[in-house]
Amino acid sequence: MPAENQNALSKRALVTGAAGGLGREVAVQLARRGCSVAITDINGEGLGETARRIGEAGAECEIIVADLTQEGAPEAAAAKVVGRWDGIDILVNNAGYGVIEPFLDATYEAWTRTLALNVTALAMACKAAGRVMRDQRSGRIINITSPGSRMALPDYTAYTASKAGVDSITRAAAVALAPYGVLVNSLAPGMMDTEMQRSTEIDLARANGRGDLQAFLDERTRRVPLGRRAEIAEVAEAVVWLCLDAPQYMTAERLNMSGGLDKD
Ligand SMILES: NC(=O)c1ccc[n+]([C@@H]2O[C@H](COP(=O)([O-])OP(=O)(O)OC[C@H]3O[C@@H](n4cnc5c(N)ncnc54)[C@H](O)[C@@H]3O)[C@@H](O)[C@H]2O)c1
Repeated sequence: MPAENQNALSKRALVTGAAGGLGREVAVQLARRGCSVAITDINGEGLGETARRIGEAGAECEIIVADLTQEGAPEAAAAKVVGRWDGIDILVNNAGYGVIEPFLDATYEAWTRTLALNVTALAMACKAAGRVMRDQRSGRIINITSPGSRMALPDYTAYTASKAGVDSITRAAAVALAPYGVLVNSLAPGMMDTEMQRSTEIDLARANGRGDLQAFLDERTRRVPLGRRAEIAEVAEAVVWLCLDAPQYMTAERLNMSGGLDKD
């Protein structure tokens, strides 16, 4: 077995929002490190492709198609992992939703949908996996937040407020689970060209009356101190580091992977 796989031997992981983007990449990298990986998402077709790549890495995979905003769905996903592998060592709360909407045109529907996934489902997943990890006296939870959680973005407030909620839940869950040796951290990715990011920026350009999409995207990229957008793979590497390699004394931490955009 390659040396890099040894510390992941038989670790059981659950990754939410794994039908594409960052979640798929995290799931596949965990599989390459020797983990058994359960993947959940509302998009069953995308999960099929992620499962194929996990299989290529030689790892076991459990597919859980679910709308995580439904009451009981995050808990059911955690229970399915326990049913298959008898425990959960890693939870990556990656599923996310956001919609561009000027603050003064805010709709109940957009706020409810955003908070239901990014806050409530994430908290319920932390609770469900956290209970399993408490009983095991080990485990790691990584919540995907955003640099936006600390910015004033009047066209994206439901999303940024939801990610501020993620930061708050991360701190609370870290303290709740610390007595049992369970670590809870978050990671804030910079701009990655995923499906979600691209459709958000197209809507943002429209909301700002910008027809010149490429120039708009380039301006946003230039705001990143490192001068480029993040590769999905490099952000996933940092998530996997938190899952498998970060020191056991690191909890309640927020790791910024935004090329210098987020500085504290
Ligand atoms: N792309 C970026 O630039 C960026 C920046 C900062 C933070 N993030 C965060 O990274 C995470 C991953 O985003 P991504 O960019 O890979 O986008 P993505 O759209 O590829 O991934 C989000 C996934 O969540 C799934 N999902 C949506 N609603 C769901 C529901 N109700 N139930 C179950 N699954 C559902 C989607 O099907 C999708 O597969 C998100 O939490 C996002 O907020 C992304």
